[in-house]
Amino acid sequence: MNVDDIAKSAEALRDAKHIVMLTGAGVSAESGVPTFRDKDGLWDKYDVTTLATPQAFEEDPGFVWKWYDWRRQKVKDVKPNPGHHAIADMEKWAEANGKRFTLVTQNIDNLHSLAGSRNIFELHGNIWKVRLWGTGPDDISVRELLECPLAECPPKDDAGKLLRPHVVWFGETLSPAVIEGAQHAAMDCDVMLVVGTANVVYPSAVMPYSVLRKGGTVIEINPGVTELSSDATISMREKSGEALPEIYSRITENA
Ligand code: OAD
Repeated sequence: MNVDDIAKSAEALRDAKHIVMLTGAGVSAESGVPTFRDKDGLWDKYDVTTLATPQAFEEDPGFVWKWYDWRRQKVKDVKPNPGHHAIADMEKWAEANGKRFTLVTQNIDNLHSLAGSRNIFELHGNIWKVRLWGTGPDDISVRELLECPLAECPPKDDAGKLLRPHVVWFGETLSPAVIEGAQHAAMDCDVMLVVGTANVVYPSAVMPYSVLRKGGTVIEINPGVTELSSDATISMREKSGEALPEIYSRITENA
């Protein structure tokens, strides 16, 4: 591990007033949740257009739900890894030291919450939530559905109305409330960590650039190279479950 990068990252976090942590599927990889674009990732194995679009759901809700039921079963028994825990620890440390801390995640697996993170914007929704089919992401019908595996597929509400997963599909817009909060945090922060994401999906992909444009620090943690790597202030070729606990222990040592 590059000790210099770890030390510089810890120093930037100590000096920060508002830290934003932007995460993607790579943060959950060490928990055993598959990513999307890596070899054997979900989009390598499955056809997006038949599973993650409103058109696919309209045509065959049972088929799409079976895929989500399978994904729910996969994440049901997995646990947050040291990367998730370090992020939750950093939030508590930041708050105890008068800093703001915002987590913006593209993940729908709920592992950040399980690890204890609190101030979270889930850009792409949450696999344990559902809402009525035909409604938008801020609809009052959004609710938890924890039954897993599902007894009824596709699931319906008490009035027999079809429910859909509360996740963002291709061709859909994100929750205006969530995106506004996340973008506001990205504009306000002075340090952003970009962890475990290929950084190719909008609008989160532009957030690190808005931080860089206003003179902020962007720290990338990813075992692979991304389009952001050459622009980031610090870019580490590390796994999040290894680098984040190192950074956290560096921040808190002699504190
Ligand atoms: P990707 O699968 O595109 O990228 C995962 C990234 O994690 C890659 O850059 C990997 O190199 C990196 N990675 C793998 N193992 C890691 C580890 N142990 N530690 C840190 N990084 C690791 O996933 P996302 O960027 O999250 O959207 O994808 C963004 C969105 O595209 C997803 O939310 C999903 C997908 O289509 C929707 O479904 C709406």
